[in-house]
Amino acid sequence: KKKYKIAVLPGDGIGPEIIKEAYKIISVIKKKKYINLQTKEYDVGGIAIDKYNIALPEHTLIGCQNSDAILFGSVGGPKWNHLKLEKKPEISSLLSLRKFFNLFINLRPVKLHKKLLHFSPLKTNIIKKGFDILFIRELTGGIYFGVPKGRNELDPNNICAFDTAIYNTYEITRIAQFAFQQARKRKKKLVSIDKSNVLESSKLWREVVTKISYTFPEVQIEHLYVDNAAMQLIQNPSQFDVILCPNLFGDILTDESASLIGSLGMLPSASLNQKNFGLYEPAGGSAPDLKGKNLANPIAQILSLAMLFKYSLGFLDISEAIEHAVITVLKQGHHTYDISDKINFISTDMMGTKISENLMKIL
Ligand code: NAD
Ligand code: IPM
Ligand code: MN
Repeated sequence: KKKYKIAVLPGDGIGPEIIKEAYKIISVIKKKKYINLQTKEYDVGGIAIDKYNIALPEHTLIGCQNSDAILFGSVGGPKWNHLKLEKKPEISSLLSLRKFFNLFINLRPVKLHKKLLHFSPLKTNIIKKGFDILFIRELTGGIYFGVPKGRNELDPNNICAFDTAIYNTYEITRIAQFAFQQARKRKKKLVSIDKSNVLESSKLWREVVTKISYTFPEVQIEHLYVDNAAMQLIQNPSQFDVILCPNLFGDILTDESASLIGSLGMLPSASLNQKNFGLYEPAGGSAPDLKGKNLANPIAQILSLAMLFKYSLGFLDISEAIEHAVITVLKQGHHTYDISDKINFISTDMMGTKISENLMKIL
């Protein structure tokens, strides 16, 4: 029987707490579906710095290489904020993993179910039937990785710091092709985000995306400046289907969009390479304000696991069942702190239990 191996990297802050809830889902799947799933846990991030003085220890990287997918919690926090940029957990573990495995595709599905409109801060007459937006964010290029990057302290009275926003044809082409393929499977509407009225890298981005669009005549393409897109998302999110973004703009617009569905704690993400290998993590971070309080929302982590089953393991049925279980529990009126009225809410732990109990019934 085929063995499926998942490397689990809980990390820092609320990471371990929400990963615990994902384990409940995995154990239901093991019970109900006779697939050979193996999970193995590895240290990553600040906790690995504390233990081994390095955020991405070699044994963790090897463990990931020997797995079919990575389930990632979150890294970083106040304890490690004083470190030099390249030593910080966010850069030296998460960005390193993205680069190492060439995870240039980042998928962030922002879905608001029509029966859960009350989760959104937007007026119901704006969202009407909810929305279903697939963000595709370029993840291994742009200003995050561009060189040179650094500081010049020659004049201590006027220090200068710089980053380089850079894209090449190859990087834009491969993410654009992926985005058009996804749009073709959906409502055939693709919006590409840039700031081509000001930035050279964005000008090239728009040129390349336009060129690729000619090879997908069935997909309608539109280009939006990022500032306008940020506004349109709040004004009328239902107009969007697939949104393609450069790295930094995608980071910002997806956090904004998470708030449109209720909370950053509900937005999952999948970071993939061309071979369907992937790292699956909540779009949000280690939420130091919630750490250790049993208040974090585990849904982003659980839905990231659902994406893992879909994109890396190829079990669409399991993926859909997990999503269904989440929606059912929300429709039943169970809320974690973030999506509650702050008076009536259930704990991280209870939310995980409810979703897994529901999954037990439907799988
Ligand atoms: P954050 O995403 O951790 O938190 C932003 C806000 O969203 C906070 O109010 C937090 O309580 C809330 N939130 C996030 N996840 C939630 C959840 N599951 N349930 C309920 N509420 C949730 O962002 P931040 O505060 O800017 O950053 C904190 C640390 O996390 C930083 O060190 C940052 O670099 C790191 N970070 C890591 C990742 C990652 O590992 N993938 C992603 C983003 C930020
Ligand atoms: C995300 C996070 C990361 C990013 C940070 C922690 C490096 O914010 O996954 O959205 O900016 O990509
Ligand atoms: Mn982010």
